[in-house]
Amino acid sequence: MNSELNIRSKRKDQHVKHALSQKIDGDSDFNHVHLIHQSLPAVNLDTVNLNACFGEFEFQSPIYINAMTGGSEWTKSINRKLAEVAAAVKIPMAVGSMHAAIKDDSVIDSFKIVREKNPDGIIFANVGADVSPADACYAVELLQADGLQIHINAPQELIMPEGDRDFKNWRENIIETKKAVKVPVIVKEVGFGMSKETIQTLVQAGIKYIDVSGKGGTNFAEIENRRRFGQDMNFLFNWGQSTVVSLIESKPFQNDSFILASGGVTSPLDAVKSIALGANAVGISKAVLEKIQTDGVEGTVRYIEQFIVHMKKISVMVSAENIQQLQKTPVVLSAEIESWKRQRNL
Ligand SMILES: Cc1cc2nc3c(=O)[nH]c(=O)nc-3n(C[C@H](O)[C@H](O)[C@H](O)COP(=O)(O)O)c2cc1C
Repeated sequence: MNSELNIRSKRKDQHVKHALSQKIDGDSDFNHVHLIHQSLPAVNLDTVNLNACFGEFEFQSPIYINAMTGGSEWTKSINRKLAEVAAAVKIPMAVGSMHAAIKDDSVIDSFKIVREKNPDGIIFANVGADVSPADACYAVELLQADGLQIHINAPQELIMPEGDRDFKNWRENIIETKKAVKVPVIVKEVGFGMSKETIQTLVQAGIKYIDVSGKGGTNFAEIENRRRFGQDMNFLFNWGQSTVVSLIESKPFQNDSFILASGGVTSPLDAVKSIALGANAVGISKAVLEKIQTDGVEGTVRYIEQFIVHMKKISVMVSAENIQQLQKTPVVLSAEIESWKRQRNL
């Protein structure tokens, strides 16, 4: 194993280890969003259909396993299990950053296992915004991926001592990559959320699929800080916009793009609230990772099946029969979120 690969593999294992031990504390912004209970639902549970059809995608359920693993022996085994779950419950799945596989053939199988275990499923490749269009095409080809996620993670890079320091070319590279790949491109954050300015820039760059991946769940400021061994940057622990705030920031662009929500989604109620704020589908990382570790493939399959049933039950309680109706269901926001909305002219 070459030394760069060794660093990447170790880093990925550390990310998983730290993410698993990370305590998510504080008040989730999902608690600041209220759905309205309807006492006379106009729908029955078995007529609720939560198929998510948007743009070029058709998901049987509006949730997906978001990018996490691959690039080491340990994360190969996690990818295998996640792919078995995704295949069983028929939800899309993204792999973690494929930089390691692009640089070194010896870890390709830690990503390819996902396609092997889920030959007919929807799978997303994942690269960073600095990866060349040719390498991004290669990543897609390796998995016969149905979509390409490009992650944008400037705070994470800046906190990592070994991280990137140059960001000016990301926008241009994303545009060139979108032109080069033959599958839909999803630009995603990694848990710091997005602003309306970022979303506008992406929409103007021709990006149709945007995963706001907000603050409130996995916290890479904290994870990278723990990896810095004493060079403390913990003043950044609260950096970014929550998923709720990011979805509100995305409002002006929800007709011109397909917004996806992730970041701190831990319950079916969080997922339904995300859709009520305009998301087309909802990504989950940490909660699924934890489940796989504690309850294995079968337990995680049950967890996701229940998650979807519970989303349907909540749909009944707000009297919505499908995603389109859920997206229109009214919400009431706390004074704090309402103040953000006002100050940002949203
Ligand atoms: C262990 C771990 C590794 C991750 N690696 C990647 C990655 O390689 N690429 C990426 O785009 N996002 C990565 N993420 C970020 C997730 O895709 C997601 O945006 C973020 O964790 C917020 O979702 P959560 O709160 O449900 O975990 C990773 C998350 C975790 C927990």
